[in-house]
Amino acid sequence: MTLSQNADANVFYFCWKSPSNIALIKYWGKSGNQLPANASLSITLKEAYTLTRIKAGFIQGGSGPEVEFRFEGEKNEAFGSRIESFLKSVVPHFAFLKEVRLEIESGNNFPHSAGIASSASAMSALALCLCSLEKEITGREISREAFLQKASFISRIGSGSACRSVYGGISVWGKHTSVEGSDDAFAVPLSFELNPLFSDIRDTILIVDPGQKKVSSSVGHNLMKGHAYAAARYTQAASNLTALLLALKQGDWETFSLITENEALSLHAMMMTSRPGYLLMHPNSLNIIEKVTDFRKQSGSAVCFTLDAGPNVHLLYPAGESDKIKPLVEELKDYCYKGTAIEDTMGSGPEKLNCR
Ligand code: PMV
Repeated sequence: MTLSQNADANVFYFCWKSPSNIALIKYWGKSGNQLPANASLSITLKEAYTLTRIKAGFIQGGSGPEVEFRFEGEKNEAFGSRIESFLKSVVPHFAFLKEVRLEIESGNNFPHSAGIASSASAMSALALCLCSLEKEITGREISREAFLQKASFISRIGSGSACRSVYGGISVWGKHTSVEGSDDAFAVPLSFELNPLFSDIRDTILIVDPGQKKVSSSVGHNLMKGHAYAAARYTQAASNLTALLLALKQGDWETFSLITENEALSLHAMMMTSRPGYLLMHPNSLNIIEKVTDFRKQSGSAVCFTLDAGPNVHLLYPAGESDKIKPLVEELKDYCYKGTAIEDTMGSGPEKLNCR
Protein backbone atom coordinates (compact mmCIF):
# COMPACT_ATOMS: atom_id res chain seq x y z
CA MET A 1 0.00 0.00 0.00
CA THR A 2 1.42 3.40 -0.93
CA LEU A 3 -1.08 5.27 1.20
CA SER A 4 1.11 7.44 3.35
CA GLN A 5 1.40 6.83 7.04
CA ASN A 6 -0.42 10.06 7.69
CA ALA A 7 -1.77 10.79 11.15
CA ASP A 8 -4.99 11.89 9.50
CA ALA A 9 -6.52 8.72 8.10
CA ASN A 10 -8.74 10.76 5.80
CA VAL A 11 -5.90 12.25 3.80
CA PHE A 12 -4.54 10.13 0.99
CA TYR A 13 -1.41 10.52 -1.06
CA PHE A 14 -0.69 8.78 -4.33
CA CYS A 15 2.16 9.13 -6.72
CA TRP A 16 2.56 7.76 -10.25
CA LYS A 17 5.28 8.12 -12.80
CA SER A 18 3.93 7.62 -16.31
CA PRO A 19 5.72 7.78 -19.66
CA SER A 20 4.94 9.40 -22.97
CA ASN A 21 4.47 7.27 -26.09
CA ILE A 22 5.13 7.57 -29.79
CA ALA A 23 2.53 6.25 -32.20
CA LEU A 24 3.63 4.14 -35.16
CA ILE A 25 0.08 3.73 -36.43
CA LYS A 26 -1.37 7.19 -35.97
CA TYR A 27 -4.67 8.10 -34.37
CA TRP A 28 -6.01 11.03 -36.37
CA GLY A 29 -9.73 11.74 -36.32
CA LYS A 30 -12.19 11.19 -33.51
CA SER A 31 -15.86 11.32 -32.60
CA GLY A 32 -18.04 11.39 -29.49
CA ASN A 33 -16.17 11.38 -26.19
CA GLN A 34 -12.66 10.88 -27.57
CA LEU A 35 -13.45 7.77 -29.59
CA PRO A 36 -10.88 7.13 -32.31
CA ALA A 37 -11.74 7.02 -36.01
CA ASN A 38 -9.09 4.29 -36.46
CA ALA A 39 -7.09 1.93 -34.30
CA SER A 40 -3.57 3.08 -33.41
CA LEU A 41 -0.42 1.44 -32.07
CA SER A 42 2.40 2.99 -30.08
CA ILE A 43 5.67 2.37 -28.33
CA THR A 44 5.69 3.39 -24.69
CA LEU A 45 8.80 5.42 -23.98
CA LYS A 46 11.01 5.15 -20.93
CA GLU A 47 12.88 8.38 -20.29
CA ALA A 48 10.21 10.96 -21.11
CA TYR A 49 7.75 10.78 -18.22
CA THR A 50 5.50 12.79 -15.94
CA LEU A 51 5.53 12.43 -12.18
CA THR A 52 2.21 13.26 -10.54
CA ARG A 53 1.32 13.34 -6.87
CA ILE A 54 -2.17 13.80 -5.55
CA LYS A 55 -3.17 14.62 -2.01
CA ALA A 56 -6.86 13.98 -1.44
CA GLY A 57 -9.01 14.98 1.49
CA PHE A 58 -12.76 14.82 2.02
CA ILE A 59 -14.99 17.91 1.84
CA GLN A 60 -18.61 18.45 2.91
CA GLY A 61 -21.54 19.12 0.62
CA GLY A 62 -20.75 17.10 -2.49
CA SER A 63 -19.69 20.14 -4.51
CA GLY A 64 -16.30 18.74 -5.46
CA PRO A 65 -13.89 18.08 -6.83
CA GLU A 66 -12.09 21.11 -5.45
CA VAL A 67 -8.74 21.29 -7.19
CA GLU A 68 -5.43 22.97 -6.60
CA PHE A 69 -2.89 22.26 -9.33
CA ARG A 70 0.81 22.97 -9.44
CA PHE A 71 3.07 22.28 -12.37
CA GLU A 72 6.75 22.02 -11.53
CA GLY A 73 6.16 23.78 -8.24
CA GLU A 74 4.22 26.72 -9.68
CA LYS A 75 0.54 27.49 -10.14
CA ASN A 76 -0.22 27.13 -13.83
CA GLU A 77 -3.55 28.59 -14.97
CA ALA A 78 -3.58 27.03 -18.45
CA PHE A 79 -2.77 23.48 -17.33
CA GLY A 80 -4.88 23.91 -14.17
CA SER A 81 -8.07 24.71 -16.05
CA ARG A 82 -7.53 21.76 -18.42
CA ILE A 83 -7.06 19.47 -15.40
CA GLU A 84 -10.14 20.89 -13.73
CA SER A 85 -12.39 20.31 -16.72
CA PHE A 86 -10.93 16.81 -17.15
CA LEU A 87 -11.72 16.02 -13.50
CA LYS A 88 -15.29 17.30 -13.90
CA SER A 89 -15.71 15.16 -16.99
CA VAL A 90 -14.73 11.97 -15.14
CA VAL A 91 -17.07 12.49 -12.16
CA PRO A 92 -19.55 9.98 -13.71
CA HIS A 93 -16.79 7.34 -13.45
CA PHE A 94 -15.58 8.25 -9.94
CA ALA A 95 -18.54 9.08 -7.70
CA PHE A 96 -16.15 9.93 -4.81
CA LEU A 97 -14.75 12.93 -6.72
CA LYS A 98 -17.73 15.07 -5.61
CA GLU A 99 -16.61 14.61 -2.04
CA VAL A 100 -12.93 15.44 -2.36
CA ARG A 101 -10.44 18.23 -2.51
CA LEU A 102 -7.38 17.38 -4.58
CA GLU A 103 -3.99 18.95 -4.42
CA ILE A 104 -2.20 17.87 -7.56
CA GLU A 105 1.47 18.36 -8.24
CA SER A 106 2.92 17.39 -11.54
CA GLY A 107 6.21 17.69 -13.36
CA ASN A 108 7.94 16.28 -16.41
CA ASN A 109 11.51 15.06 -16.60
CA PHE A 110 11.69 16.64 -20.05
CA PRO A 111 11.04 20.31 -20.78
CA HIS A 112 7.32 20.60 -21.59
CA SER A 113 8.25 22.80 -24.51
CA ALA A 114 10.60 20.16 -25.94
CA GLY A 115 8.06 19.05 -28.47
CA ILE A 116 7.45 15.69 -26.79
CA ALA A 117 3.79 14.79 -26.28
CA SER A 118 3.37 15.65 -22.62
CA SER A 119 -0.40 15.23 -22.51
CA ALA A 120 -0.01 11.44 -22.86
CA SER A 121 2.30 11.13 -19.85
CA ALA A 122 0.48 13.79 -17.80
CA MET A 123 -3.04 12.47 -18.32
CA SER A 124 -2.08 8.84 -17.78
CA ALA A 125 -0.19 9.71 -14.56
CA LEU A 126 -3.21 11.58 -13.23
CA ALA A 127 -5.65 8.84 -14.28
CA LEU A 128 -3.52 6.25 -12.47
CA CYS A 129 -3.52 8.40 -9.31
CA LEU A 130 -7.32 8.66 -9.50
CA CYS A 131 -7.67 4.89 -9.93
CA SER A 132 -5.41 4.31 -6.91
CA LEU A 133 -7.49 6.76 -4.92
CA GLU A 134 -10.70 5.02 -5.94
CA LYS A 135 -9.28 1.65 -4.93
CA GLU A 136 -8.28 3.02 -1.53
CA ILE A 137 -11.54 4.84 -0.82
CA THR A 138 -13.86 2.06 -1.95
CA GLY A 139 -11.66 -0.74 -0.56
CA ARG A 140 -12.74 -2.76 -3.58
CA GLU A 141 -10.45 -5.59 -4.68
CA ILE A 142 -9.64 -5.21 -8.32
CA SER A 143 -7.34 -7.22 -10.57
CA ARG A 144 -4.27 -5.49 -12.02
CA GLU A 145 -5.76 -5.98 -15.48
CA ALA A 146 -9.05 -4.31 -14.56
CA PHE A 147 -7.21 -1.51 -12.74
CA LEU A 148 -5.09 -0.72 -15.80
CA GLN A 149 -8.05 -0.98 -18.11
CA LYS A 150 -9.93 1.63 -16.08
CA ALA A 151 -6.82 3.83 -15.93
CA SER A 152 -6.56 3.57 -19.72
CA PHE A 153 -10.27 4.39 -20.12
CA ILE A 154 -9.94 7.46 -17.88
CA SER A 155 -6.68 8.60 -19.53
CA ARG A 156 -8.43 8.49 -22.91
CA ILE A 157 -10.99 11.02 -21.73
CA GLY A 158 -8.12 13.38 -20.84
CA SER A 159 -6.15 12.88 -24.05
CA GLY A 160 -6.81 10.10 -26.54
CA SER A 161 -3.23 8.97 -27.02
CA ALA A 162 -2.67 8.92 -23.23
CA CYS A 163 -4.69 5.71 -22.94
CA ARG A 164 -1.81 3.82 -24.63
CA SER A 165 0.77 4.99 -22.05
CA VAL A 166 -0.77 2.86 -19.30
CA TYR A 167 1.00 -0.23 -20.66
CA GLY A 168 4.67 -0.85 -21.21
CA GLY A 169 6.09 -2.07 -24.51
CA ILE A 170 3.61 -1.74 -27.31
CA SER A 171 -0.09 -1.02 -27.01
CA VAL A 172 -3.03 -0.79 -29.32
CA TRP A 173 -6.03 1.49 -28.92
CA GLY A 174 -9.19 1.14 -30.98
CA LYS A 175 -11.28 -1.73 -32.22
CA HIS A 176 -9.46 -3.81 -34.82
CA THR A 177 -10.18 -7.27 -36.16
CA SER A 178 -6.54 -8.37 -35.79
CA VAL A 179 -6.39 -7.51 -32.08
CA GLU A 180 -8.48 -9.60 -29.74
CA GLY A 181 -10.09 -7.58 -26.95
CA SER A 182 -9.28 -4.28 -28.66
CA ASP A 183 -11.69 -1.49 -27.90
CA ASP A 184 -12.35 2.14 -28.78
CA ALA A 185 -12.74 3.01 -25.10
CA PHE A 186 -9.33 1.85 -23.84
CA ALA A 187 -5.99 0.52 -25.01
CA VAL A 188 -4.74 -3.05 -24.66
CA PRO A 189 -1.19 -4.36 -24.41
CA LEU A 190 0.21 -6.45 -27.25
CA SER A 191 -1.07 -9.98 -26.82
CA PHE A 192 1.92 -11.75 -28.35
CA GLU A 193 5.63 -11.92 -27.68
CA LEU A 194 7.45 -9.16 -29.51
CA ASN A 195 10.20 -10.43 -31.79
CA PRO A 196 13.55 -9.83 -30.01
CA LEU A 197 14.61 -7.55 -32.87
CA PHE A 198 12.14 -4.98 -31.54
CA SER A 199 12.44 -5.55 -27.81
CA ASP A 200 15.33 -3.10 -27.40
CA ILE A 201 14.19 -0.52 -29.91
CA ARG A 202 15.74 2.94 -29.56
CA ASP A 203 14.12 6.30 -30.22
CA THR A 204 16.33 9.34 -30.73
CA ILE A 205 14.09 12.40 -30.76
CA LEU A 206 15.49 15.20 -32.89
CA ILE A 207 14.07 18.47 -31.63
CA VAL A 208 13.71 20.66 -34.68
CA ASP A 209 11.43 23.11 -32.92
CA PRO A 210 10.58 22.96 -29.22
CA GLY A 211 7.79 25.54 -29.50
CA GLN A 212 4.06 25.24 -29.08
CA LYS A 213 2.27 23.19 -31.72
CA LYS A 214 1.00 25.22 -34.67
CA VAL A 215 -2.31 23.36 -34.52
CA SER A 216 -3.66 21.65 -31.41
CA SER A 217 -4.41 17.97 -31.86
CA SER A 218 -8.13 18.63 -31.16
CA VAL A 219 -8.25 21.02 -34.10
CA GLY A 220 -6.32 18.46 -36.20
CA HIS A 221 -8.71 15.61 -35.30
CA ASN A 222 -11.67 17.81 -36.20
CA LEU A 223 -10.21 18.61 -39.61
CA MET A 224 -10.71 14.92 -40.46
CA LYS A 225 -14.48 15.50 -40.36
CA GLY A 226 -15.48 15.91 -43.99
CA HIS A 227 -11.85 15.49 -45.14
CA ALA A 228 -11.75 14.38 -48.79
CA TYR A 229 -9.40 11.49 -47.95
CA ALA A 230 -10.82 10.46 -44.56
CA ALA A 231 -12.35 7.13 -45.59
CA ALA A 232 -9.21 6.08 -47.49
CA ARG A 233 -7.03 7.10 -44.54
CA TYR A 234 -9.01 4.92 -42.09
CA THR A 235 -8.80 1.95 -44.46
CA GLN A 236 -5.05 2.53 -44.85
CA ALA A 237 -4.53 2.75 -41.06
CA ALA A 238 -6.41 -0.52 -40.53
CA SER A 239 -4.38 -2.44 -43.10
CA ASN A 240 -1.13 -0.84 -41.92
CA LEU A 241 -1.90 -2.04 -38.40
CA THR A 242 -2.44 -5.62 -39.56
CA ALA A 243 0.84 -5.54 -41.50
CA LEU A 244 2.76 -3.93 -38.65
CA LEU A 245 1.55 -6.52 -36.13
CA LEU A 246 2.83 -9.28 -38.37
CA ALA A 247 6.18 -7.51 -38.80
CA LEU A 248 6.51 -7.11 -35.02
CA LYS A 249 5.82 -10.81 -34.55
CA GLN A 250 8.13 -12.00 -37.30
CA GLY A 251 11.01 -9.59 -36.77
CA ASP A 252 10.52 -8.06 -40.20
CA TRP A 253 12.27 -4.70 -39.84
CA GLU A 254 11.89 -3.79 -43.51
CA THR A 255 8.09 -3.91 -43.33
CA PHE A 256 8.19 -2.21 -39.92
CA SER A 257 10.19 0.64 -41.42
CA LEU A 258 8.00 0.92 -44.51
CA ILE A 259 4.76 1.06 -42.51
CA THR A 260 6.13 3.39 -39.83
CA GLU A 261 7.28 5.97 -42.37
CA ASN A 262 4.12 5.58 -44.42
CA GLU A 263 2.04 6.35 -41.33
CA ALA A 264 4.11 9.42 -40.40
CA LEU A 265 3.92 10.87 -43.89
CA SER A 266 0.21 10.01 -44.20
CA LEU A 267 -0.53 11.90 -40.98
CA HIS A 268 1.23 14.95 -42.41
CA ALA A 269 -0.48 14.47 -45.78
CA MET A 270 -3.84 14.60 -43.98
CA MET A 271 -2.88 17.91 -42.41
CA MET A 272 -1.59 19.34 -45.67
CA THR A 273 -4.77 18.40 -47.51
CA SER A 274 -7.28 19.46 -44.88
CA ARG A 275 -9.21 22.72 -45.14
CA PRO A 276 -7.49 24.87 -44.11
CA GLY A 277 -4.28 22.96 -44.77
CA TYR A 278 -1.27 22.99 -42.47
CA LEU A 279 2.41 22.31 -42.99
CA LEU A 280 3.64 20.94 -39.69
CA MET A 281 7.13 20.00 -40.85
CA HIS A 282 9.88 22.55 -41.01
CA PRO A 283 12.56 22.70 -43.71
CA ASN A 284 14.90 21.04 -41.21
CA SER A 285 12.46 18.14 -40.70
CA LEU A 286 12.79 17.51 -44.45
CA ASN A 287 16.57 17.88 -44.31
CA ILE A 288 16.67 15.24 -41.59
CA ILE A 289 14.39 12.86 -43.50
CA GLU A 290 16.55 13.21 -46.63
CA LYS A 291 19.73 12.49 -44.67
CA VAL A 292 18.19 9.51 -42.90
CA THR A 293 17.03 7.89 -46.14
CA ASP A 294 20.42 8.55 -47.78
CA PHE A 295 22.24 7.10 -44.77
CA ARG A 296 20.05 4.02 -44.86
CA LYS A 297 20.73 3.46 -48.54
CA GLN A 298 24.47 3.91 -48.16
CA SER A 299 25.03 2.01 -44.92
CA GLY A 300 22.33 -0.66 -45.04
CA SER A 301 21.24 0.56 -41.59
CA ALA A 302 17.76 -0.32 -40.28
CA VAL A 303 17.10 3.24 -39.05
CA CYS A 304 13.70 4.67 -39.91
CA PHE A 305 11.76 7.76 -38.84
CA THR A 306 8.40 8.76 -37.53
CA LEU A 307 6.84 12.13 -36.75
CA ASP A 308 4.18 13.36 -34.40
CA ALA A 309 1.84 16.15 -35.50
CA GLY A 310 4.77 18.55 -35.48
CA PRO A 311 8.26 19.16 -36.89
CA ASN A 312 10.34 16.91 -34.60
CA VAL A 313 11.69 13.66 -35.98
CA HIS A 314 11.95 10.37 -34.10
CA LEU A 315 14.66 7.99 -35.30
CA LEU A 316 13.89 4.36 -34.57
CA TYR A 317 16.54 1.63 -34.67
CA PRO A 318 17.56 -1.54 -32.83
CA ALA A 319 19.91 -1.00 -29.85
CA GLY A 320 22.55 -3.01 -31.69
CA GLU A 321 22.87 -0.16 -34.18
CA SER A 322 23.49 2.55 -31.57
CA ASP A 323 27.18 2.97 -32.43
CA LYS A 324 26.45 3.04 -36.13
CA ILE A 325 23.76 5.70 -35.68
CA LYS A 326 25.80 7.99 -33.39
CA PRO A 327 27.68 9.86 -36.17
CA LEU A 328 24.41 10.30 -38.07
CA VAL A 329 22.76 11.81 -34.98
CA GLU A 330 25.73 14.14 -34.48
CA GLU A 331 25.36 15.34 -38.06
CA LEU A 332 21.60 15.77 -37.73
CA LYS A 333 21.97 17.89 -34.60
CA ASP A 334 22.89 20.74 -36.95
CA TYR A 335 19.23 20.77 -37.99
CA CYS A 336 17.98 20.74 -34.41
CA TYR A 337 17.08 23.52 -32.02
CA LYS A 338 20.25 24.21 -30.04
CA GLY A 339 21.53 20.85 -31.24
CA THR A 340 18.94 19.04 -29.10
CA ALA A 341 18.49 15.29 -29.49
CA ILE A 342 16.82 13.28 -26.72
CA GLU A 343 17.74 9.62 -26.31
CA ASP A 344 14.88 7.34 -25.38
CA THR A 345 13.99 3.67 -25.61
CA MET A 346 10.98 1.41 -25.19
CA GLY A 347 9.95 1.32 -21.53
CA SER A 348 8.04 -1.03 -19.26
CA GLY A 349 5.20 1.36 -18.45
CA PRO A 350 4.03 3.43 -15.49
CA GLU A 351 5.30 2.93 -11.95
CA LYS A 352 3.56 3.58 -8.68
CA LEU A 353 5.83 5.34 -6.22
CA ASN A 354 5.77 5.81 -2.48
CA CYS A 355 5.20 9.45 -1.73
CA ARG A 356 4.12 12.11 0.72
O1 PMV B 1 -4.06 12.35 -28.02
P1 PMV B 1 -4.11 13.52 -28.90
O2 PMV B 1 -5.47 14.07 -29.00
O3 PMV B 1 -3.08 14.55 -28.50
O4 PMV B 1 -3.73 13.08 -30.40
C1 PMV B 1 -2.51 12.54 -30.71
C2 PMV B 1 -2.34 12.39 -32.16
C3 PMV B 1 -0.99 11.94 -32.64
O5 PMV B 1 0.01 12.15 -31.66
C4 PMV B 1 -0.60 12.75 -33.86
C5 PMV B 1 -0.99 10.49 -33.07
C6 PMV B 1 -1.08 9.47 -31.97
O6 PMV B 1 -1.70 8.43 -32.22
O7 PMV B 1 -0.47 9.67 -30.90
